[in-house]
Parts: sequence; structure tokens; C-alpha cells
Amino acid sequence: MNGFQVAGRIRVPGDKSISHRALMLSALAQGASRITGILESADVHSTAAVLRGLGADVPSLGPSIVVHGRGSRAMSAPGSSLDCGNSGTTTRLMAGVAAALPFASTFEGDASMSRRPMRRVARPLEAMGATVELPPHGGLPMTVRGGSLHGVEWKGEVASAQVKSAVLLAGLVGEVPVTVIEPAATRDHTERMLRARGVTVDGDGNRVSLTPSGPLRAMDVAVPGDPSSAAFLVALASLATSGELTVEAVCVNETRIGFLLALGRMAGRVRFENERQEGGEPIADIVVAPASLRGITVGANEVPAMIDELPLLACVASRAAGDTLITGAAELRVKESDRIMAVVANLRAIGVKAEELPDGMLVTGSDAPLRGTVQTHGDHRLAMAFGVLAALPGSDIRMDDRECVRVSYPEFWNDLERVHGH
Ligand code: S3P
Repeated sequence: MNGFQVAGRIRVPGDKSISHRALMLSALAQGASRITGILESADVHSTAAVLRGLGADVPSLGPSIVVHGRGSRAMSAPGSSLDCGNSGTTTRLMAGVAAALPFASTFEGDASMSRRPMRRVARPLEAMGATVELPPHGGLPMTVRGGSLHGVEWKGEVASAQVKSAVLLAGLVGEVPVTVIEPAATRDHTERMLRARGVTVDGDGNRVSLTPSGPLRAMDVAVPGDPSSAAFLVALASLATSGELTVEAVCVNETRIGFLLALGRMAGRVRFENERQEGGEPIADIVVAPASLRGITVGANEVPAMIDELPLLACVASRAAGDTLITGAAELRVKESDRIMAVVANLRAIGVKAEELPDGMLVTGSDAPLRGTVQTHGDHRLAMAFGVLAALPGSDIRMDDRECVRVSYPEFWNDLERVHGH
């Protein structure tokens, strides 16, 4: 197999989780918030459209936009269903907002989104006094009838930043105190951004409380690079034979860097440079060099910090020496696709030894050339993870749908090409 080189410096698009939250909180605040570097992808367009559907003044997305927030009282009953497209974050976080608004909002989405579990968000919102109607399968369409809420202490059964954030937003808009206790700590962008806008949010680890404290402040937000998008380029650089790649200005919040830590345990060569704090989030340049990787074991406690990167980790593991065992990751079955089934089936389809487990997978690495056809199931992260393997010398991998990357990283194929020095 011929080697390949990586080289240069690159920026990845803005963080998806932070982009959604920046739009929502700017719309709910009083006054003008400038957002720079927002991710212009299908999922974030969905959040903008849902906010507009509720009467908020959200401009077209661009590199620098101003949202003129008029508070939740300016929101009005939507004239039609709110289309969340493929976006779980849009659906679940906005369900939290809708729970505190005095009218009915119906959320719908694409076929994949409509199958995803909504009871996990319906239950705490109902415990706060909202009414939530779901179809028997528990997905979309979902109708939330909101109104006056009461406080809640919610103990979630699944570790989910989306559910946690929905309850926090319901507390914020409904002006009632809420506490969420999670089985494991998840991404904390909502908490950080609320604090930065003057809201009292306490707690640490897997327990967080919000105390209502008056109107939400308008605030400028500079969205950092998305670590989940950076991960694909970092993976490609790790599998190169020479060179070095720098991915600039990435959010390195500890709730998001599980993949980078796992890669380090696989003997990957990753370091942070130029570490700083911007807008309440830790940011760094990620410098990565090729390495001979070896298999590792990943358990439940590490899963939340790399939940979206596990398909990629499995793909990287297929090129490492020995076995990689991932457990405690049953949540992967209810993402944009059943990512346990789909990753294992696709790895096998390109000649990798892999096994499905109820809550994870076992992948055996090798350096045999990868050949076959990958089914993305319309799942952006599957397309990109297998896109990295397809870019390796000796690979002959076809893919049914490359366009689904528009959900989170529209320029992915161009960026992959750019860092791949040949
Ligand atoms: C997200 C939380 C995670 C993650 C998703 C984005 C968020 O979902 O998988 O891509 O922005 O809060 P869950 O909360 O369902 O785990």
C-alpha cells in the first residue's frame, strides 16, 4: 500500500451544538446578539426555521448575523407544523421552549427523525405541566401544548444533553426552577451559554439546576470550530504516513473530546496548541501527526464525550493493530440511524471483521485493503467516517449517498481532499 501525506492548517465549520443554542438563546433574549461563525448546515437551518415559525426574528444564516431577540412573550402560535428536518437537537430543545409557550406547537421531521425517541423529552415536560402528544411509536409528529409550568427535579434514565437542555429551557422560559440529574455528565454548552447571559445555573458533573432570574441578556457569540467535524480530519491525519495537520480554533470542552483522548490511548499523536477561553468555551488548535495505532476498550463512562464520534472510532479501529471493544453505547441505536447495526454491516461490507453487541461493537483491525459498498442510511456521520476510510490508499469504497454530509458539514468532501496531500 502506498503512503500519503497530510499537510497544512485548516479550520472546520462552527460547532453544531453551540450554533443551535446561540440561535435559540439569542431569539429568547431581549436585544441584539451578533453571532459569528455559525454553522451553515441543514440542521442549523432547521433551528432557524422553527424559531421563525414561532414568530422570532431570525435572519438568513451567514458568517456574521444579528438576531434581534424579543423574548419568549413575542413568540406566537405557529401557523403550521414546525419542520425539524433531520435535527434531534432542534426537535428536543425547541420542545422544551414550546412547553412554556401558551399554545400548541407540532414538531415534524424527515423519516429518520420521525423514528427517534421523544418520550424521553415528553416525560419531564409533562412532569412540569405541559401536555405532549406522541404517536404510538413514540417519535414524531409531536404536539406540545404549553402554558404555565411548575418546577421539577428530573432524574433522567439516559445521558442526553438534548433532554437536559430541554428541561433547562422549559425552566428558563417558564420561569420555574429545574434540576436535572443524569446517569453520566453530557455536553454542557447550554449551561455555559445561559450563565454567560446572566442566568443562575449551578451544579457540576451530572447534576445541574437553573433558578429563574429575569430576562435573558443579549450577547455576542463567536462560535468555535466543531470538534465532531474536526475528528474526521484528525482521523485521516492519524492514518497518513507522513506530515502533520493543524485544525485551528476547535472547541475542546472536556465533554466533547472523548475521541481525541481515545485516539491518544490508541497511540495516536495529538496535541493542543494555543489553548485559550473564548465566549465561555475552551478553544485550541489541534495538531495531529500519523501514528501506528492499536486497539482499545471504550466503556460507558467515556461514551457521552464521544457519542457522535463512535462510528468514526470504529472505522479508525479497523486500521489499528488488534481489537477495539466498545460497550455501554446502546444510545447509538437511536441516532440518525442505528449506528451499531449500520457501522458493523458497513465494516463487514468492506472486508473488516466486526461484530454487533447489544450496546456496542467489537472491531478487529488489519491493514488489508478496504473494498466494497457502504450504505449511509442518509446518516451524515456514517458518510464522513467511511469517507475517511475511502480516502486511504488502496481503498476502493463506493457510497450510496455522499450528499447527506450537508446536515453538519456541507464542505466535508472538499476539506477532506484539501488535507489529503497525496
Ligand atoms: C447534542 C446531544 C447529543 C448528540 C447530538 C447533539 C446536543 O444527543 O448526539 O449530536 O447538541 O445537545 P443526545 O442528547 O441525544 O445524546
